[in-house]
Amino acid sequence: MNAEIEKRRTFAIVSHPDAGKTTITEKFLWYGNVIREAGHVRAKANRSYTVSDWMKIEQQRGISVSSSVLNFPFEGCMFNLVDTPGHQDFCEDTYRALTAVDAALVLIDSVNGVEKQTIKLMDVCRMRHTPIITFINKMDLDGRHVFDLLDQIENILHIKTAPFTLPIGVGKLFKGVYSIAENTFHTFNKEEGHQEIIQMEGPDDPRLVEMCGENWVNQFKEEYEMVTGGMDPFDHEKFLKGEMCPVFFGSAVNNFGVRQLLNAFAKLAPPPMVRETDKRPVSPDEDAFSAFVFKIQANMDPKHRDRTAFLRICSGSFTRGEKVYHVRTGRDIRLAAPTAFLAKDKEVIDHAWAGDIVGINDPGLFRIGDTLTDGEKMNFTGIPDFAPEHFARVTLLNPLKSKQMAKGLAELSEEGATQLYEPLKSAIPVIGVVGRWVSGPEKDVAKFADEYAMDCMMDKERNLVCLFPNEYRLNLAIKNYENLTFAETSQG
Ligand code: G4P
Repeated sequence: MNAEIEKRRTFAIVSHPDAGKTTITEKFLWYGNVIREAGHVRAKANRSYTVSDWMKIEQQRGISVSSSVLNFPFEGCMFNLVDTPGHQDFCEDTYRALTAVDAALVLIDSVNGVEKQTIKLMDVCRMRHTPIITFINKMDLDGRHVFDLLDQIENILHIKTAPFTLPIGVGKLFKGVYSIAENTFHTFNKEEGHQEIIQMEGPDDPRLVEMCGENWVNQFKEEYEMVTGGMDPFDHEKFLKGEMCPVFFGSAVNNFGVRQLLNAFAKLAPPPMVRETDKRPVSPDEDAFSAFVFKIQANMDPKHRDRTAFLRICSGSFTRGEKVYHVRTGRDIRLAAPTAFLAKDKEVIDHAWAGDIVGINDPGLFRIGDTLTDGEKMNFTGIPDFAPEHFARVTLLNPLKSKQMAKGLAELSEEGATQLYEPLKSAIPVIGVVGRWVSGPEKDVAKFADEYAMDCMMDKERNLVCLFPNEYRLNLAIKNYENLTFAETSQG
């Protein structure tokens, strides 16, 4: 594989709000030498300074850490971190971000365990077989028991765990983590300068008891036995299929265990992989350029009214100014000023490779899911629409503004913020923010659409969607229409 492509690591962070995503992102960027202000020492001396400084960076650059894509180098790799906006409410944007990545970091709060947003996001990762690396954060707090957390990951997130490290002690008495493969003990100290990695003879090394006390070491040894004796060893193939995840323990705010985590990403996470289209699989190594749009964001720069389309490059590379083929419209377009998003700056880039995420100015041409190629007529698949959970009928108090409203609603839908439906029997549009897509033999679909006409509408791709008022009605339809499929997601 081309060396530039092989060093790309494109990933997202999957977590529930407050698990520490911003904190760990800040540390990643610090390791990538992209920001210097977020260093642990300064953070500790005057945390509020660092926090406000970080926010200032966001404001000045017109990019937000909570809504952007960040590129940073580390240990010979080039990382693209695609952010998954973490609001509590359902947001399709968050889910689509996961279509652009090759791996995901699942971040779990040791106190709260596996939480709602993480479960939802993991459903998407599982659907796509995304390789997962798990980091259990906040080990400096009195969190849950190690096996309680591992059980939750296995039973709620449905993925096998392979602990790479195990903690010794917890909360105020957190002593550090033991690396199982390397037989090293990484001592925890709130002062980063005092953290050490010590080579051990094994879990029976007497120095462990000296450092951590007998009780904690006994508990650790029991857990070590259970992991090494009773659990399946790490299997890289299973990891690549999204069936097994390495687990690390640490504390993001104390910059503890973060470097090891990044190292694991560099070593274990895959470079860009083969992607499916409606015509053929596309390998990242192909010379011909191909990419798809997974996100559109308006007004990123507060000074200008602008729209940015985010592209995931799937094969080849491209150079600034080159023409590419926009498959949906059949037009050639010139990518004049592609930008990469470094936290320290939004830079115009001259060259980008498969695996990279770049932003391009969108004059209103792009839609989520659009494919760009060197000329080949194909479309990347697997960029899902999701079954909405909340709906609203949209009516206007001032009918003279209907044109503007239609434009606004269409834009929201193009950005992927909401889904827009036209009811079969009414002119009042409906927006949906989290229904079922109905498919099957034409005759059955037509019969269904007739019977359920009041609840049926068309989505933007002219696929039939039915909004059931309750589970009972849905189950009844499933029973009465055996030949039809009622899907929660649509592959567009
Ligand atoms: P998010 O982006 O996932 O929503 O989480 P964020 O990083 O903002 O972290 C949420 C809170 O958890 C923050 O505290 C942060 O300092 C804290 N935190 C992150 N990692 C750790 C850790 O390893 N240990 C402990 N004890 N806390 C951690 P906050 O009080 O909400 O904000 P702040 O005033 O500290 O910034």
